[in-house]
Amino acid sequence: MCGIIAYFGNTPRGTGKNVAPILIDGLKKLEYRGYDSAGICLLNNGELYSAKVKGRVSELEKLALDLKQSNIGIAHTRWATHGEPNEINAHPHFDCKNEIAVVHNGIIENYTTLKEILEKEGHKFVSKTDTEVLSHLIEKFYNGNLEEAVMKTLELVVGTFGIAVLHKNENKIVVARRGSPIILGVGENENIIASDAVAVLPYTKKVVYLNDNEMVILTDGKYEIRNFDGQVLEKEIDEIKWTASQIEKKGYEHFMLKEIFEQPEAIENTLRGRIDEDLNVRLSIDKIDFNLVERILIVACGTAWHSGLVAKYLIEKIAKIPVEVDYGSEFRYRDPIVSKKDLLVVISQSGETADSLAALREAKNKGAQTLGIINVVGSTVSREVDAGIYLHAGPEIGVASTKAFTCMLTAVTLLSLFLAQHKKIIIEKEFFNDIKLLPGKVDEVLKQSEKILEIAEKFKDTKNFFFLGRGLSFPIALEGALKVKETSYIHAEGYPAGEMKHGHIALIDDELISVFIATKDHTYTKILSNMEEVHARGGKVIAVVNGDDNAVLNLTKDIIRVPECREELMPIINTVALQLLAYYIANFKGIDVDKPKNLAKSVTVE
Ligand code: G6P
Repeated sequence: MCGIIAYFGNTPRGTGKNVAPILIDGLKKLEYRGYDSAGICLLNNGELYSAKVKGRVSELEKLALDLKQSNIGIAHTRWATHGEPNEINAHPHFDCKNEIAVVHNGIIENYTTLKEILEKEGHKFVSKTDTEVLSHLIEKFYNGNLEEAVMKTLELVVGTFGIAVLHKNENKIVVARRGSPIILGVGENENIIASDAVAVLPYTKKVVYLNDNEMVILTDGKYEIRNFDGQVLEKEIDEIKWTASQIEKKGYEHFMLKEIFEQPEAIENTLRGRIDEDLNVRLSIDKIDFNLVERILIVACGTAWHSGLVAKYLIEKIAKIPVEVDYGSEFRYRDPIVSKKDLLVVISQSGETADSLAALREAKNKGAQTLGIINVVGSTVSREVDAGIYLHAGPEIGVASTKAFTCMLTAVTLLSLFLAQHKKIIIEKEFFNDIKLLPGKVDEVLKQSEKILEIAEKFKDTKNFFFLGRGLSFPIALEGALKVKETSYIHAEGYPAGEMKHGHIALIDDELISVFIATKDHTYTKILSNMEEVHARGGKVIAVVNGDDNAVLNLTKDIIRVPECREELMPIINTVALQLLAYYIANFKGIDVDKPKNLAKSVTVE
């Protein structure tokens, strides 16, 4: 993962001639990508000045501001893959003579072989990272031209990288990408490179998305893009639609809470313009020949994978097309059977998740048509699929995904209806009316936050949770459990309620809390029976039910009441209740909810 940022500015505004505050500010915005150590390197008059720390960017800040001022610099916030998080392993990494500095996001898979060769040649390594081979290779090939040395280096490298490189004798920053995101922000007399648009936005909305095997060379007020053969490329400048204020906390204690509360608007944005007056679903995905599609394969990771499971239930039920759902990390290595008759759907908030991306490429190579359901505009997945549905959820900063997930659920609902309409399956008008009511219903759940907070306080010291649901509530049980694990570090398992009796029930005692999603759908009576089974064995229950449903009153007093709505849309409503439960439990435990330990927002490594 990791976040990288690089800045070459002629007149850094408000910061004198110093880029350090700009780099630090950018790193803070990229901290969701990794936050176990951080570092910075500035170039001034033929000298490199650097600082590194173990820990958060805030700890780097003072050291960075004390460095010799400069208008050229690179910086990094790390999510460790090779080598424990400490100051030595923090980036930038240097060559033997401390003349070259490299920040890197990605993994150099053949680094042990390269390191052995370099060590035999006399290079001295100081860190345990894979990245350090890059600085030594660049040193080896350096002959007065940094970009040439970088190009030669990258020819030898297997793996993924987004890198920014300085050499003390050249007033330039060389940046390159393969498999890890890089965006170039184009300003007036200033250019900024980052792993994500959020760090570029305060300076410019004009951006160029780098593709794999492309590099940018930043010099005084200018940039040049080349491929790895050295050919100069003319690339289009895009405009980012998100505003800088969209990525501020706006008075909420955490981004996660803000993003939970933004869901009515976010869902509205996912829906906007996609259901026309005649109740036809409009998606700009005409590049796909749906007449060819006999099966849909969904690949995703983490939270997005749960939305894939909901999609399976919905597409099979509504559009009658068989669907398989895979983890990106499994699909890519299991030699899956894929043909031209398959439509591969990648669901991903970031559009950069390495495993999902690799699965997409695998399916493409095997001839499938491809569709992306993505939040981040211009991300790698969005550029590699045949067609896509953007979520328009706005930037999601909290590491645990919330609004992107409910927008994914909204998007897959639209996709199911679109596919059904393509097959001339009649959809009842009511369905569309209910969709339009969704943002208001989500708002009603948010109004339950006080009650959910009370329940969270009561159960904050729980050691084990089960989340149980049936049908469409099963993936939501998985998501509810994942949210608790991610943000509270409490063991939580999601499970199909009907499967409980085949093993899980052995664990029931008065310390294990079972959260049942018991809203009204065609499995409602069955789930009530499952609750009885838990209750009869002394298990404690939290129930999510519709409106004034009192059927569970004899089983529990800890009830979260959510509005009624049609079965197909209940996953969205129930999710919001479980997100709030997880958030409040984590907050009671004093955890840094937006940056839970060991996690990262965008996982661009395997
Ligand atoms: C990481 C995040 C999860 C996210 C998953 C997939 O593990 O911590 O919250 O669900 O990546 O991310 P994507 O961007 O592909 O949706």
